[in-house]
Amino acid sequence: MQTVEVNLLSEGNHTLSEAYKALRTNVQFCGSDIKTIVVTSCVPNEGKSNTALELSAALAETGKKVLFIDADLRKSVMARRLRVGKGGKGLSQLLSGMCTMDEALCATSVRNLHMIFSGPVPPNPAELLGGKLFSMILNKCRDVYDYIILDTAPLGSVIDAAVAANFCDGAVLVMASNEVSYRFAQNVKGQLEKSDCKILGVVMNKMNMKSNKYYGRYYGRYSGKYYGQYGDYGNTPSK
Ligand SMILES: Nc1ncnc2c1ncn2[C@@H]1O[C@H](COP(=O)(O)OP(=O)(O)O)[C@@H](O)[C@H]1O
Ligand SMILES: [Mg+2]
Repeated sequence: MQTVEVNLLSEGNHTLSEAYKALRTNVQFCGSDIKTIVVTSCVPNEGKSNTALELSAALAETGKKVLFIDADLRKSVMARRLRVGKGGKGLSQLLSGMCTMDEALCATSVRNLHMIFSGPVPPNPAELLGGKLFSMILNKCRDVYDYIILDTAPLGSVIDAAVAANFCDGAVLVMASNEVSYRFAQNVKGQLEKSDCKILGVVMNKMNMKSNKYYGRYYGRYSGKYYGQYGDYGNTPSK
């Protein structure tokens, strides 16, 4: 099996790394029945692939076996970003019956994290992702992996993510700050809700932390008056 070197944006970036750990915790609290998770967004470039990869690595770090599937069959950048040659097989070939699971699987430099790249662009991505074979493959993977994270195409552009979400337990919507209108986001959410898959939550990405008022509030909390009350942690009476 080919081993791929994975470079994470969060490496050496404390704030980012903490944010992905928080995302991991939130996903874990969604319950043990949430194993297959689709990551999508409204438009390209909001940070789906990055979030999906970071979440996968963060989960693998806890000792869970994780499979990252690059299911953006139309315009994936993952193979190029991780500098994987064109020789390897990918999801499009696996779903067309042109290769086996073993041929499509890659190991990574992150322990417990395996990957399937997207492969060459097929003429019928939505059909492949909605096909019986994909459902069967995901079911088989459930026996081997604790989590299967699917990186997908933007749902505001093509239907692929909702089609794949039909076979998944949960979906995470990545939204870049100030990127799309409220109405557009509502439409995409509505589209996702039509699939048989629970929306786990939204990842707010690309926020300007310096000028952001939320950050200011958090900062104030941890450096301000609540800091001295850590002794009460866990003993706060419920309202
Ligand atoms: N949290 C982040 N901080 C900094 N850069 C980011 C972050 N998330 C994504 N990016 C950058 O934004 C670009 C698009 O991210 P990507 O994950 O490929 O988006 P998508 O898969 O939604 O098209 C990439 O260059 C990526 O490195
Ligand atoms: Mg992407």
